[in-house]
Amino acid sequence: MNVIKVKNYDEMSEKATELIVNRINTLENPVLGLATGSTPEGLYQRIIKKYDQGEVSFKNVTTFNLDEYVGLDKDDSNSYYYFMKEKLFRHVDIAMDHVHVPNGVASDLEKECVEHERAIEQAGGVDVQVLGIGGNGHIGFNEPGTPFSSKTHVVDLDQSTIQANARFFNSIDEVPTQAVSMGIETIMNSKEILLLVSGEAKADAMAKLLNGEVSEDFPASILKQHDNVTVIVDEAALTVA
Ligand code: GLP
Repeated sequence: MNVIKVKNYDEMSEKATELIVNRINTLENPVLGLATGSTPEGLYQRIIKKYDQGEVSFKNVTTFNLDEYVGLDKDDSNSYYYFMKEKLFRHVDIAMDHVHVPNGVASDLEKECVEHERAIEQAGGVDVQVLGIGGNGHIGFNEPGTPFSSKTHVVDLDQSTIQANARFFNSIDEVPTQAVSMGIETIMNSKEILLLVSGEAKADAMAKLLNGEVSEDFPASILKQHDNVTVIVDEAALTVA
């Protein structure tokens, strides 16, 4: 893993923007894997700025999101589709039929998982996958214990993840208990991975990632076996308790 240490959240977002804009501008038909959560918001804001300044276009870009809550439809303000539309897609010139966020209200969720995988393959695979990390080491919604061989699947969310994400909902009871998530193998099949880590709340996870062994008990640890991973991490996330 190529670990880039930066001062703070803004610098992390700045560096991530440089990398993503560079890939969009150099690849012929860029395929981006995108993540939700607070971590990549600064990246998306800066990409929009670059778009407004005419420095990048999404005309030829295809995107695949990592995950979606089961039971929330596209119009639900807590769905990841809605998040992506509000934070990025509606501000740039992407063709919405090039956008793939798993459908959390599909009548056949297993089929939805297979289709997400197939669409990724048909697009030629993900060129660069943006990732955040959960406090428990989850990537996408792949909780500890998820097989490294997993493809897109329906997952039961950990209580710690439900609690961490409750801040976006009116009450914790409203947080879905399941999600559709790209699997760990799906993520590892990306040609390049960009992991963003910011804030003290991620310091334990970051220490485990850097110093721990590769184990299904800590999903992000598998990234150490990928040959093209950039981690951009800020000082707070490197604070050793
Ligand atoms: C969520 C998402 C992940 C995200 C992680 C961290 O549960 N499914 O894709 O990386 O949690 O979120 P945040 O960036 O808000 O800390």
